[in-house]
Amino acid sequence: MKILSIETSCDETAISIIEVTGDKSAPSFSILSNIVYSQVELHKEFGGVFPTVAKREHAKNLPIIFTESLKNASILNTGGTTLYREKIKTLLEREQDLIEGMHTIAETIAKPEIDYIAVTTGPGLEPALWVGVNFARALNMIWDIPLVPVNHMEGHALSILLNANDSKIQNVQLSQFEFPALALLISGGHTELVVMNDWMNYKKIGATRDDAVGEAFDKVARLLGLPYPGGVAISKLAEEGEPREDIRLPRPMIDSPNYDFSFSGIKTAVLYLTQALGKIDEQTKKDISKEFEEAVTEVLVKKTLKAVEEFGVRTLIVAGGVSANTHIKNEIEKAISGLNMGIKTFFPTKDLSTDNSLMIAIAGYFGIISGKVSTDPQEIRANSNWSL
Ligand code: KG4
Ligand code: ZN
Repeated sequence: MKILSIETSCDETAISIIEVTGDKSAPSFSILSNIVYSQVELHKEFGGVFPTVAKREHAKNLPIIFTESLKNASILNTGGTTLYREKIKTLLEREQDLIEGMHTIAETIAKPEIDYIAVTTGPGLEPALWVGVNFARALNMIWDIPLVPVNHMEGHALSILLNANDSKIQNVQLSQFEFPALALLISGGHTELVVMNDWMNYKKIGATRDDAVGEAFDKVARLLGLPYPGGVAISKLAEEGEPREDIRLPRPMIDSPNYDFSFSGIKTAVLYLTQALGKIDEQTKKDISKEFEEAVTEVLVKKTLKAVEEFGVRTLIVAGGVSANTHIKNEIEKAISGLNMGIKTFFPTKDLSTDNSLMIAIAGYFGIISGKVSTDPQEIRANSNWSL
C-alpha cells in the first residue's frame, strides 16, 4: 500500500509518500518521497512560532509540496476536472489561501496511486493543524482516497523505526522491540513519559506542568541573545562551557514522587542569574548553556530511570526535537547501559527527531492496520490538545 502523509502541526510543512509491503509483524517500508519545508527563517523575527503566519505559509506550501511529492514518487499524471470548483470553495471556506492551489491540483492532476492519506490532527497549533486537515479533506473529496488521523506524538514515538536517508527498502522486525516500552517524548511543545504495553497502546505517566523542555531551551536561548530555535545554539555553546561556582541552576521536581516535569523555573533562574551577573561575556554564555543543559539532562535522566525500573521497561524510545541533543542522548544511553538490564534504547536519526512527515506516515500505517481509517471525512478534525 502507498501512504501519503501530511504534517502541519507547527512550523514545518511536510509531506511524505511511503510504500509498505509484507507482513504486519515484519513490514517493509520504501520512502518514495520525503519533503520538509521549514518556516524557521520566517518565525525567527518573532523569536517563536506565530500561528497565523504558520497557517498562511502552510496553505501556500502544501499544494506545491504535494505536486513535488507525486513527482518524486513517479505518480504524477496529468488529468483532472473542473467538476469540483464550487465544492472546493465551500469546503475551503476557512482556508482561502488554499483554494487556488487546490483548484490547480483538481484541474491538472489525475488521481494518483495513493491508497491512504495520513494527516496529523493533533496536538499542535489549532490554525496550523486545520490547514493540513482541510487539505486532506479536499484531496479525499476529489479522489475518494480514505483518510487516517494521526497523533503527532505517536508519530514522534514511531520515528525511530525508519532511517530517512535510506532509499532502499527497509525491513523492520517489530519483534525486536520488547514490551513494556517507555517513550520519553521531548519536543518544543511537549515533554512526556509514556508507557507502551504494545504497539498503539499508550499510557501517559507524566508530563510537564508548564514549559516543554524544547521551549525552555528556546526561552533560555532568547535570554542569552541566541537565535530561535534555541536548542541547537545552546547545545553548541554548552560544549565549550565550564562548571562554575557562581552559575548554578535548580533541578526542578527531580525528586518528586511522580513522573511530571517543570521547566519554567529553570528559565526564570537563568533570568535572575543573568541579571545578577551583569554584563555577560561569551564564555559566561557558554558556562550558563552548559549548566542549563546539565540541569535539564539530570532531571530527564532521573525520571526516565525511575520509570524504567518501576515499569520493568525492556525498550526505551527517546524522540522529539530535543532528542537530537548529543549530551542528553549520551547521558541517557550511559545511564541505561549502567543498569545492565539489557534494555534496548532507540533514538531517531537527526532529521527525524524534529518535525517531519515520515513519522506521520509510519504512525498512519499502524493506524491503518489497526482499523483507524475514517469512514467519514467530516469526523477528521483538528484537535490541538489531543493527548496520547
Ligand atoms: O519536535 P520538534 O521539531 O517540534 C515540536 O513538535 O515541538 O522540536 C523542536 C524543539 C525546539 O524547541 C528546539 O529548540 C529543540 O527541539 N531542539 C533541540 C535541539 N535541536 C532541536 N533542543 C536541544 N538540543 C538540540 N540539539
Ligand atoms: Zn513535534
